Amino acid sequence: MSGLFITLEGPEGAGKSTNRDYLAARLSEQGIEVLLTREPGGTPLAERVRELLLTPSAEPMAADTELLLVFAARAQHLAEVIRPALARGSVVLCDRFTDATYAYQGGGRGLSVERIAQLETFVQGELRPDLTLLFDLPIEVGLARAAARGRLDRFEQEGRSFFEAVRQTYLERAAQAPSRYRILDAGQSLVQVQSALDALLPELLVRCRG
Ligand SMILES: Nc1ncnc2c1ncn2[C@@H]1O[C@H](COP(=O)(O)OP(=O)(O)OP(=O)(O)O)[C@@H](O)[C@H]1O
Ligand SMILES: [Mg+2]
Repeated sequence: MSGLFITLEGPEGAGKSTNRDYLAARLSEQGIEVLLTREPGGTPLAERVRELLLTPSAEPMAADTELLLVFAARAQHLAEVIRPALARGSVVLCDRFTDATYAYQGGGRGLSVERIAQLETFVQGELRPDLTLLFDLPIEVGLARAAARGRLDRFEQEGRSFFEAVRQTYLERAAQAPSRYRILDAGQSLVQVQSALDALLPELLVRCRG
């Protein structure tokens, strides 16, 4: 594979989607072919699985069901979108990926890291992101931004301890593999976050052209 696989991670309202679009515009200006996508979802079938995951429902979803649905959507997304794009040499900018599974289903739901790692290998083989931008911020700031957007999804209805665990899991994973992660202070103003992204741009361009 000759492309570059960049993921954007972080809790609700951290600015992943906003900054994914910003970064895509900066890279496109420089003549880089960028594919924008997201998880869960990214294909019509995977977006249907996303609906199952995000829509609040009277029937509680078992944590294992949630984990398997996340990886089912991911298998489809990899087969239909991510692997073909990387094979073409594209830069893929993906809003959430498997770090989110470790953070939400692992940290948040308490599923074991070993179980998640088994599925990661099963579904992805050797494929891992080349670079992960972690948008970190105090959970109350992110939740307030998400709430301002309107109706809460099935995850956004969780309590404070769930989101603290999500945030801590992201930070621990970044600390364990610092070469893959760039941590951004996402609690700052959007202008400040974007100037932090601008500062990363030279490095990104080198790697994108790699
Ligand atoms: N640095 C910032 N300061 C203030 N508001 C911001 C900032 N970044 C994003 N926002 C706003 O907060 C809201 C959430 O941002 P965005 O949708 O990009 O977050 P997200 O990380 O994609 O959230 P989710 O995980 O729920 O998809 C949006 O209304 C966005 O305009
Ligand atoms: Mg988003």
